[in-house]
Amino acid sequence: MSEPAEQVAQSEAAISRSTSHPALTTRFCELVGVRLPVVQTGMGWVSGATLTAATANAGGLGILASATMTFDELDAAIAKVAGATDAPFGVNLLPVQADLDKRLGLMEDRGVAVASFAGPPSAKVVSRLNDAGIVTMVTVGARRHAEKMAGIGVQCIIAQGGEGGGHTGAVPTSLLVPDVADAVGAGTAAGPNGDGVIVLGAGGYRDGRGLVTALAQGADGIAMGTRFLLTAESGVPDDIKAIYLKTPVTGTVRTTAIDGAPQRVIATDVISALESGIAPVRVANALRNALRFRALTGTSLKDLVQTGLAMRKSQDLTWAQLAMAANAPMLTKAAMVDGQAEVGILPTGQVVGVIDSLPTVAEVLGDIVTEAEATLERLAG
Ligand SMILES: Cc1cc2nc3c(=O)[nH]c(=O)nc-3n(C[C@H](O)[C@H](O)[C@H](O)COP(=O)(O)O)c2cc1C
Repeated sequence: MSEPAEQVAQSEAAISRSTSHPALTTRFCELVGVRLPVVQTGMGWVSGATLTAATANAGGLGILASATMTFDELDAAIAKVAGATDAPFGVNLLPVQADLDKRLGLMEDRGVAVASFAGPPSAKVVSRLNDAGIVTMVTVGARRHAEKMAGIGVQCIIAQGGEGGGHTGAVPTSLLVPDVADAVGAGTAAGPNGDGVIVLGAGGYRDGRGLVTALAQGADGIAMGTRFLLTAESGVPDDIKAIYLKTPVTGTVRTTAIDGAPQRVIATDVISALESGIAPVRVANALRNALRFRALTGTSLKDLVQTGLAMRKSQDLTWAQLAMAANAPMLTKAAMVDGQAEVGILPTGQVVGVIDSLPTVAEVLGDIVTEAEATLERLAG
């Protein structure tokens, strides 16, 4: 067992980890001002201030998940991260959030470096953020969505393949990343100065070989959710982390039964029950969850209705799908915050099946850099 003093020394060494390999200091590092081309993505109920600050201090880009926070909680979380690091960090938002305008104002006031969106923001929002000097980042699962986002001035695209965690598309990462990089990445005319949009690969990454693969496919870095969920600094209850660690690579499922949109989760009895449930009962349960989510996040009934109408329009949802949209955050909270796996859902990427440890964030990033440098040297040799 390490002595406490030794532990501090180890983590300080890891915190100062950077890379001298030119291939690993990418356009993404330059755009955002981070040492390493690795993003810890926004994960509802999971990526709070502690995880985000740990990632920022270890050289990556940490992102606070704000869709599941009240405005005041977001305010406090931004202050906490800013108090713990001088490095840049980001905030993940829902583009249809009723108080989006207020949240963007807060981010402008506090000098937040990156605004990441779970779905497509409007051209007006992108232009406002570009004017404010905040880097815009959007997660997409299809080439045509990447092209659309590049067309409205988004600077950074996370191309997430179907093996990724949470809401996710159908195209595998190995096909999507090079396709999106060809469409909008470096070497294309897209991008604010005609120099290409920055593309990050997501879905299935956990190590340095994965980072080198993404760079070889035309990306400028990687974004990871599940790997960061399974770290010492993630606040997910230990019993829940243990379930993740036991899950095999075949133990996940991409399902529409939770909220109508395809989402990758651990295949549990809760998911089987949702999939076999009678539609009207599912919708009634989801409506109840929508009201509980409203109470928890302090959303007024008027804002809830407005958000719902905007989602229905922008995502082309039926009324039943709309009623189910609040299901995901409530069912995720039951597991990730309250530790009740028997009633909640466990969003995850398939990569969970090849992760068997709970390292610190600094160890994750340090190991990625070490392995990426060794891989690049091996290939060059
Ligand atoms: C528990 C969990 C919660 C998530 N919540 C969000 C979210 O609130 N917003 C978002 O844009 N993406 C969310 N995602 C997707 C991740 O940000 C990320 O894009 C994805 O996990 C990448 O795939 P990987 O898990 O294979 O690394 C979530 C993923 C997980 C596992």
